[in-house]
Amino acid sequence: MTLAPHPLTTWQTNAISDRNRRILQRPKVLEISGLGKSFHHKGQKNKVLEDIEFNAYKRELICVVGPSGCGKSTLARMIAGLETIDVGQIQVEGQPVEGPGSDRGMVFQSYSLFPWMSVKENVMFGLTQGGHSKNTAESEALQWIDLVGLEKFADAYPHQLSGGMKQRVAIIRALANQPKVLLMDEPFAALDPQNRLKMQQYLLEIWQNIDITIFFITHDLDEAIYLADRILVLDANPGRVHEIVSVPLPRPRQANTLLDPAFLATKEYLHRLVHPPQVEVDLEAKLSMVRLVPVNAQVPDIF
Ligand SMILES: Nc1ncnc2c1ncn2[C@@H]1O[C@H](COP(=O)(O)OP(=O)(O)OP(=O)(O)O)[C@@H](O)[C@H]1O
Ligand SMILES: [Mg+2]
Repeated sequence: MTLAPHPLTTWQTNAISDRNRRILQRPKVLEISGLGKSFHHKGQKNKVLEDIEFNAYKRELICVVGPSGCGKSTLARMIAGLETIDVGQIQVEGQPVEGPGSDRGMVFQSYSLFPWMSVKENVMFGLTQGGHSKNTAESEALQWIDLVGLEKFADAYPHQLSGGMKQRVAIIRALANQPKVLLMDEPFAALDPQNRLKMQQYLLEIWQNIDITIFFITHDLDEAIYLADRILVLDANPGRVHEIVSVPLPRPRQANTLLDPAFLATKEYLHRLVHPPQVEVDLEAKLSMVRLVPVNAQVPDIF
């Protein structure tokens, strides 16, 4: 039996599929196998993740999309070692994850800077905790701050920064400890679209220049396609890997990448995976129950 080609294969030029093949030949940085997780609430067991299986390779940028509540944040927290593992295994460079560690950095949606510390002190914090002298920590922190163009704000406090500036600090604070994996849970969701695109470009620039594997959770399909080498699509109830989509776009990505026909085809494909049409039908049924105007009343046609 011959399988039908994947709908996105048409957009894979030889150069792109060669690149994707080379990524899969790099050393594995993150290995997840047979991973499962349940929570218990009021005596009820809620199976959140089931049989999660995937690898991320050296310097790969993986995005994760899936319906709300499918377990994306739980998965990131398990990789970070902030949540226990029920079944299965997570390894970072061959070492099983058994708790938090400096080989993993994390950036959340909410700005997680210490409000009583300056930008420089925030970035220095992990470095001094990790055993660096104050002088070394300070000079390294200043280099990171310089990298993201915030040198004039080194002594400013978080409340004096815009949302985008705060997230730049959160990213370099996580990167200063030189983790192997950077876990990002909807880090740009609170930013307006223009700042969001700028931050995506910043992130790609940083990523291209350092040895880091990124695991990036988002609800925004544009963001996922723009950033990712591969996109992990999760199903809900319980969260499972539905498909891992290779993004058929060359690098470097640019602002006009968003208008590329391959970009739009990928978006359409992902949209169907993440928002199956049945959801809209369910919503329609529920809406008819809460409509304030009786359905059979004479109302002007809004279309
Ligand atoms: N500490 C916890 N205790 C009990 N249930 C939890 C806990 N953390 C998460 N859950 C449940 O696990 C499920 C998945 O939550 P999670 O936050 O991982 O989803 P998500 O995919 O990140 O959602 P969203 O896209 O809305 O951020 C939800 O049903 C949630 O209620
Ligand atoms: Mg979440």
